[in-house]
Amino acid sequence: MLKGKKILLGISGSIAAYKSAVLVRLLIKAGADVKVIMTPASTAFIGPLTLSTLSKNEVLTDLSTNDTWSNHVNLGRWADVMLLAPLSCNTLSKMAQGVCDNLLMAVYLSATCPVVVAPAMDEDMWIHPSTKENILKIQTQGNQVLEVNKGELASGLFGEGRMAEPEEIIQWLQSFFTKQHQFQGKKVLITAGPTHEPIDPVRFIGNRSSGKMGIAIANEFQKRGASVTLVCGPTSELIRGNYEVINVNTANEMYQACLNNFTSAEIVVMSAAIADYTVENPSTEKIKKSGEEINIVLKKTVDILSELGKSKLSNQILVGFALETTNEKANALDKLKTKNADLIVLNSLKDEGAGFGGSTNKICIFDRKGNEYLFETKDKKNVAEDILDTIYTYTNETN
Ligand code: CTP
Repeated sequence: MLKGKKILLGISGSIAAYKSAVLVRLLIKAGADVKVIMTPASTAFIGPLTLSTLSKNEVLTDLSTNDTWSNHVNLGRWADVMLLAPLSCNTLSKMAQGVCDNLLMAVYLSATCPVVVAPAMDEDMWIHPSTKENILKIQTQGNQVLEVNKGELASGLFGEGRMAEPEEIIQWLQSFFTKQHQFQGKKVLITAGPTHEPIDPVRFIGNRSSGKMGIAIANEFQKRGASVTLVCGPTSELIRGNYEVINVNTANEMYQACLNNFTSAEIVVMSAAIADYTVENPSTEKIKKSGEEINIVLKKTVDILSELGKSKLSNQILVGFALETTNEKANALDKLKTKNADLIVLNSLKDEGAGFGGSTNKICIFDRKGNEYLFETKDKKNVAEDILDTIYTYTNETN
């Protein structure tokens, strides 16, 4: 799986840098093409000569040597993946801030390839709120963070902060490259965000959905090779993906956009929080303040998921969401059945870190075959990965 893959390994100043030799050896043995960049601090922990010998490539440490300039843009474009292992506390902080004071940071900031980091530091540094904040920040910027291990640390203390073992990193890379093609060429339709139902030209009925979850799902599908169409309600989130985005405001506009794209879609994920009712007669003029009360008549919107469920073909997979506050499981299973979905992703607003607005979510997925998958609270990007893994398992078992 790693044969011919171009891996750009960035090493920063941590005692775990001694493991880089094993890591490079394993990558080369697996058939990868490896280039190494070291921060000046890391050269105190392991010699560039060891790494250049093992990688069979010159090790780069400076933006320029004598009269030669290292082209940091080309390096970031050359790689299939940039791996920072070990990632020191200091380099992590520079990543979070966008500091560009050495070759490694210049390459990181100009890299167009996916970036994965394997942090390594003492437990006290690892659990410091600043470190936690920096990790979250680089994750939300799209970087993958490998888990640290628990064990004996350089300080002699025992705790969390050990870099993932080279074998674990290799495993992660193998799974990363396998997943990259999981949905190759599949047409996927995703809805995200809230809808806004106008009351008059300046007011609307909306909800607290941010669109983060649906956008994370769209990004993950694109990463795994799918051809994505995202139908998105009003959101302030930045959509960075390189896929088709159809912006809509109302539930009816979302319905029309879904209808237009449904027949060609092989997978549909309805993560939008769509209004169940819309204003029957929105005013064309701003409604003036008058009596003590005001009555607005609402009428039901189309249940898009149910409608798509009715005309779904056997080669189409329909994934719905269920946002619940009571009888969560029973309600989710009911939606799975009545809306004729293949999978339902349940968010319970009772779970801390779940649901609207925030950057994390806690989900449980139910499928038509009676499987139930419960996940921990995670960053929405990682939740999106769990959702795609589950869809992949379901589709592969079905076919
Ligand atoms: N949904 C839809 N069209 C609507 C309302 C909801 O397609 N008009 C979809 C949502 O995108 C989600 C699923 O139906 O995938 C469940 O949405 P949810 O708000 O949890 O439930 P509702 O069906 O609206 O029912 P209730 O509000 O009574 O829980």
